[in-house]
Amino acid sequence: MFDLTEIYKFDRNKYHSFIFTDEELKALIEGHTDDKLLFASADQVRRCHYGDEVFLRGLIEFTNYCKNDCYYCGICKSNRHIIRYRLSKEDILSCCREGYELGYRTFVLQGGEDPYFTDDRICDIVSAIRDNYPDCAVTLSIGEKTKESYKRYFDVGAERYLLRHETTNDAHYKMLHPENMSSKNRKQCLYWIREIGYQVGTGFMVGSPFQTTEHLIEDLRFLQELKPDMIGIGPYITHHQTPFHDHPSGSLALTLRMIAILRLMFPYALIPATTALGTIDATGREKGLKAGANVVMPNLSPVKVHKQYELYDNKICTGEESAQCRGCLERRVQSAGYRIVTSRGDIKR
Ligand code: SAM
Ligand code: FES
Repeated sequence: MFDLTEIYKFDRNKYHSFIFTDEELKALIEGHTDDKLLFASADQVRRCHYGDEVFLRGLIEFTNYCKNDCYYCGICKSNRHIIRYRLSKEDILSCCREGYELGYRTFVLQGGEDPYFTDDRICDIVSAIRDNYPDCAVTLSIGEKTKESYKRYFDVGAERYLLRHETTNDAHYKMLHPENMSSKNRKQCLYWIREIGYQVGTGFMVGSPFQTTEHLIEDLRFLQELKPDMIGIGPYITHHQTPFHDHPSGSLALTLRMIAILRLMFPYALIPATTALGTIDATGREKGLKAGANVVMPNLSPVKVHKQYELYDNKICTGEESAQCRGCLERRVQSAGYRIVTSRGDIKR
């Protein structure tokens, strides 16, 4: 078995990206090594690259309509129990205005795959944000599109795109999604996004139904191939109105281990301490930061819609205004020993 102490003692003056065999990854993932040392090593690597900086991304959840039926997702098409909403362009711009005043320089527009938001409408919204806030980055997270659509959004100023691959393994992907969705298409989208020139974000849920250690190792291998700029992972959390309502949520321990492994393998990556992590544990996001995460994504959407964008049960921060959310996260980040910076937070390769 390899010695984590050697990793912890790495030469701080050299660029380090740790490479693990499948056996080593299995030991790390399954907790057969010293977790405390794993997290401390990840923190050292993160401090080498990013110091104590934590980047802010203002999340605008602008629609909970979706044409897809992912079996794990609370806003999937077949959930007839939720109230659907869409934000108007003016609503979105007013979220940006509030966010800008609070120091945000990145806006992430996320939503279900909502046919109402045609390419023309998305381009119109992205252009308006870029015109009003030229010093801000616009990130889109609106699912699987054609290459032409991705190119149109990019040409009007969207520079970053988040699309989690969810799971690399085909058979596992099929267990989580209906027949009309495929891992092949999702990965194809990611390659297009990268080819067009976006900063690419991908990732997966930890502890999703039927997931094995081997699936997680395959996910890490896929990331080595894609080399994304941002890697978003969070625990799968049960939603009581989905087909997976009786599958238990993923664990804090496993999610933290995966964050630490990602930091060691991808030292340059932007890795968020996600809301899902804060949902399964009251100080989950702080723990995520200490295990190697360096991004937080507070909600900038109007409070009245927070509860309706419930991907999973008991999602936190659903009653907080943007300013409260910003203040709360600032305190949490400080208490964990880091510092929020209000730059665009571009990747340092
Ligand atoms: N429609 C876009 C897409 O497909 O990328 C963005 C919205 S989608 C809801 C964003 C992410 O939420 C998904 O990639 C998935 O990983 C995560 N998610 C959905 N349901 C979840 C659940 N029950 N627990 C944890 N994460 C979940
Ligand atoms: Fe479309 Fe979840 S099923 S966003």
